[in-house]
Amino acid sequence: MKSIKNIENIKNKRVILRLDLNVPIKNGKITDANRIDKVMPTIEFLLKKKAKIIIISHVGRPKGKIVKELSLDLVSLYIKSKIKKEVSLLKENIFNLNKEDIFKSSKNEVILLENIRFYPEEEANDDKFSKKLASLGEIYVNDAFSCSHRNHASVSKITKYLPSYSGIQIKTEVDALNRITSEIKKPITCIIGGSKISTKINIIKNLIPKFDSIIIVGAMANNIFKFKGLNIGKSVYEKDIDNLIQEIFSYAKKNHCKIYFPKDVKIGKKLNDISIEKDLRDIENDDMILDVGSKTLLEIKKIIDDSSTILWNGPLGYFENENFSLGSLEVAKYIANRGNEIFSVVGGGDTVAVINSLNMKDKFNFVSTAGGAFLEYLEGKVLPGIKALN
Ligand code: 3PG
Repeated sequence: MKSIKNIENIKNKRVILRLDLNVPIKNGKITDANRIDKVMPTIEFLLKKKAKIIIISHVGRPKGKIVKELSLDLVSLYIKSKIKKEVSLLKENIFNLNKEDIFKSSKNEVILLENIRFYPEEEANDDKFSKKLASLGEIYVNDAFSCSHRNHASVSKITKYLPSYSGIQIKTEVDALNRITSEIKKPITCIIGGSKISTKINIIKNLIPKFDSIIIVGAMANNIFKFKGLNIGKSVYEKDIDNLIQEIFSYAKKNHCKIYFPKDVKIGKKLNDISIEKDLRDIENDDMILDVGSKTLLEIKKIIDDSSTILWNGPLGYFENENFSLGSLEVAKYIANRGNEIFSVVGGGDTVAVINSLNMKDKFNFVSTAGGAFLEYLEGKVLPGIKALN
């Protein structure tokens, strides 16, 4: 990857900077700004070099439609407060924008385009859209490692139209993950949770040959319960993946990788409910599985004790409601307190938010901003966003 630090003559150049500012937002507040803080060195580097910055990012999954709650309003205010400069959020349709429209005022050094996933063309990696985006700048920089596994217009196709470089954070993440994967010590356990079942379930199979144990928690475990013929009530799950689950189990057996999933759970009738611990056989039709139970936690701690390396992505439950956060918090504290006895790598916006809420970031060997991209990188895949930069 050609680094941003190697760009010559950047002064007054319009730099399109793809970031992943997909931060958790609750009740009109950013609850964890880690992903923004991590890319501040790149923004500051460009400002120091007197470049004009056009930031592109997504938040959430609006699926090509304008969703007010997924606006970048709060993010733009946060960046403004950090750099202490004017940051304008452009809400105009990108197809109606021209180069001349942006940076009209000489005061403007940083422009943020509204959530790029409001455009269906983004996820379609649309050529015309990429060309249009590219026409707004002169140089392209990707500092969005956490969405570089997406073959999307502002991550991938845009590089066809502009000289393209890597940002400071993306390089840090790639270098660290390369080092980790080459120096990794067995036995290795991977804990995979969270709610993005469709993204992660496909990855598990490819991770099997690399790990000794895989602990499947969070919403993905619901699919396993369903596959085992258990009632999961109103819990979220992914349709039509029984064959894949079957393959995961048989492939794991062949590769001597142990697959663990919860033995007991905590349920609520709605997301903001109190939690009740239940055995898997007692789930009722109006229950939602929202955390792991105490027997499961004991088992996970034992597996952690027997591991030399732990890779963790995705919370164990719906940690946004503190009644269902115990599983995630306990696992975070348990890994952190093992100190030097264990090599720990953690990734993903929500997982990092859990660790930040405990102020324990420094107790892990490496904390990646990425979730899905982190797992795909561990799989050994060449991420489209990185490939495009090469
Ligand atoms: C993430 O949160 O992992 C990234 O922002 C990518 O989001 P996505 O899974 O919706 O593409």
